[in-house]
Amino acid sequence: MTMRSAAKHALLTQPLAPGSPGAFLRGRFSPLSPGARPCRAASSASVPAAGKHLPPLFSVAPMMDWTDNHYRTLARLISRHAWLYTEMVVAETIVHQKDNLDRFLAFPEEQHPIVLQIGGSNLKNLAKATELANAYSYDEINLNCGCPSGKVAGHGCFGARLMFDPEFVGDAMSAIAANCDVPVSVKCRIGVDDCDSYEELCDFVDKVVSNSPTRHFIIHARKALLSGISPAENRKVPPLKYEYYFALLRDFPEVKFTLNGGITTIDQVSASIRQGAQGVMVGRSAYNNPWNMLGHVDSEIYGKPTRCISRRQILESYQFYGDSIIGRYGPSRPNVRQLVKPLLHLFHSEPGNNLWKRKSDSALRYCKTVKSFLEETLDAIPDTVLDKPVTREQSVEKKYFADVDSLLPPRYTTLTNCTYGSPELATASA
Ligand SMILES: Cc1cc2nc3c(=O)[nH]c(=O)nc-3n(C[C@H](O)[C@H](O)[C@H](O)COP(=O)(O)O)c2cc1C
Repeated sequence: MTMRSAAKHALLTQPLAPGSPGAFLRGRFSPLSPGARPCRAASSASVPAAGKHLPPLFSVAPMMDWTDNHYRTLARLISRHAWLYTEMVVAETIVHQKDNLDRFLAFPEEQHPIVLQIGGSNLKNLAKATELANAYSYDEINLNCGCPSGKVAGHGCFGARLMFDPEFVGDAMSAIAANCDVPVSVKCRIGVDDCDSYEELCDFVDKVVSNSPTRHFIIHARKALLSGISPAENRKVPPLKYEYYFALLRDFPEVKFTLNGGITTIDQVSASIRQGAQGVMVGRSAYNNPWNMLGHVDSEIYGKPTRCISRRQILESYQFYGDSIIGRYGPSRPNVRQLVKPLLHLFHSEPGNNLWKRKSDSALRYCKTVKSFLEETLDAIPDTVLDKPVTREQSVEKKYFADVDSLLPPRYTTLTNCTYGSPELATASA
């Protein structure tokens, strides 16, 4: 379809490629060292097939203002196989901006596999928004049933509040599924306010599955509180109850579940999978420490070669992306500050990181391109760090989910249907 491929390529017309070597940073972005392979974007042929691999073994969580196109470009340069979720896009935004959709929905082809997260509570708008988004060829459409923020769950009456009304979520998921040709999923909490028993969580899943084609849930394993605490506190105050997640695996064998919440290291991701998790979604740690989290995903989680060998090469490719889209959507939209934002976590805990952050603060006041920003600041980072491949620190084996089995709640026995029909889903292995 012409429309579809036009939309897909709207952000980036050239493949990501290493920046031209040479003068950069007094020769510091010099030709790649012997034996070093340039970090290239995946060709669509090498991207894992979409749709058939749900739930993804590893995904990066949707995060408003964080998982924008710029961060996702960086993430994809580090990991080829991680699934990437967009920030939540409100259905009404898509519907009302239908002449300006690229700004909200376009992404570089290299970002596949990628999932669009939609928010909303108006069936007509959810259906229309999905229909419009379908032209962009996302690999899955996800509905936000977990956001506790006042704007979303309060005035907006969607996000986590939707967990109070599973029948509506079933209708919404049916409307979404009817307007796209990819799998659909729900991202939710384990409960909301006082509606927080395992039984109530199961009722929610059971009703949504019975009333819609949804067969994949992403479970943020803590409940949401709709008043009294901020969205940030809602991501750390309510306790994590991983046992609810593992009980869902036991009680709904025909449905797939991804575990989310509080996973901070690749060891924990691996441990969750060993414990039986069908997929793991990581949010803050994938943003705040992308190199150490995403850098191990391809090899440790997918058993594939690691994609890039150094952060110098990642920055070369990112610079090409960034400088090619500055001002694409109007004066300073995006601007250098927005483009540099995800880079600022690339050297987490490394020598030179603090100095680099200080230099970045001042360089962002006058730099007009990503190239000049990197030239002004990167001498704060030692070459040994810039050129170091992803390395695995020796880790002490910990029993992350040791007590889960003993905490499992009693079996859920009141299933609406004993069987939900066979979803054509396979556990991600690519
Ligand atoms: C800055 C920020 C923005 C977020 N925005 C969204 C969002 O748009 N949609 C959503 O479903 N969850 C959102 N979340 C929640 C995350 O997707 C995730 O569920 C949560 O951070 C727990 O995972 P973690 O412990 O790995 O970070 C956001 C989280 C953060 C930190």
